[in-house]
Amino acid sequence: MSVWAILVAAGRGERLGADQPKAFAKLGDLPLLAEPLRRLDESAWVDAVVVVAPPGWEEPAILLAEELGAGKVRACVAGGETRAGSVRAGIAEVPGEAAAVLVHDAARPLLPEAVIERVLAPLVEGWDGAVPALPVPDTVKRVGPEGGVVETLPRDGLWAVQTPQAFPVEVLRRALAGDAQATDCAGLVEAAGGRVKVVPGDPLLRKVTTADDLAWAAALL
Ligand code: C5P
Repeated sequence: MSVWAILVAAGRGERLGADQPKAFAKLGDLPLLAEPLRRLDESAWVDAVVVVAPPGWEEPAILLAEELGAGKVRACVAGGETRAGSVRAGIAEVPGEAAAVLVHDAARPLLPEAVIERVLAPLVEGWDGAVPALPVPDTVKRVGPEGGVVETLPRDGLWAVQTPQAFPVEVLRRALAGDAQATDCAGLVEAAGGRVKVVPGDPLLRKVTTADDLAWAAALL
């Protein structure tokens, strides 16, 4: 089974407060993008990688891949306005003969190899997708614009979903048809009627959103 990875790195990362896009904020000595790119490139499960860069940052992304010696990078394309748009740009580079696709957020740099293995396994059993997730430890409430609680969700069965998310290539391609939007790829596959399996995630897959998250990740490099 040939596995292509799409590394989405085209977010603006405004909450980080940096001048450049989040993927190029420094994590240790290198741009944030370097760590997840190196890990995907070195993964025994991944055959090829497509990098989705912020528009105008394709060239620096290609140079970074060269600097890292990331030989599995097959394409580097500009992302879209939304995450789904960026995934659409990435999957356009994945050839028809590829069997599975992994979509990973560059904002989750500390990608464990074991999670890649865990999300790919359910595809062999016929699932339409698999996502890593952790049970939500806090009580989750929906809050209105004025700060008032609208609803308290029962915590049982609530999971916080991470990436990498794995899909048979054609399942994700179909789910992305048209202009469907979602905050993760599994949401698109679910909306198209797909069966998505949840596998154990990893606290290391915490998403880097703020400067504190960057410092946390840098300490674990
Ligand atoms: O914005 P959010 O935190 O959901 O971003 C998750 C991942 O999706 C990040 O790695 C970000 O770079 C990527 N993204 C993208 N294109 C967008 C928005 C987000 O590639 N337009």
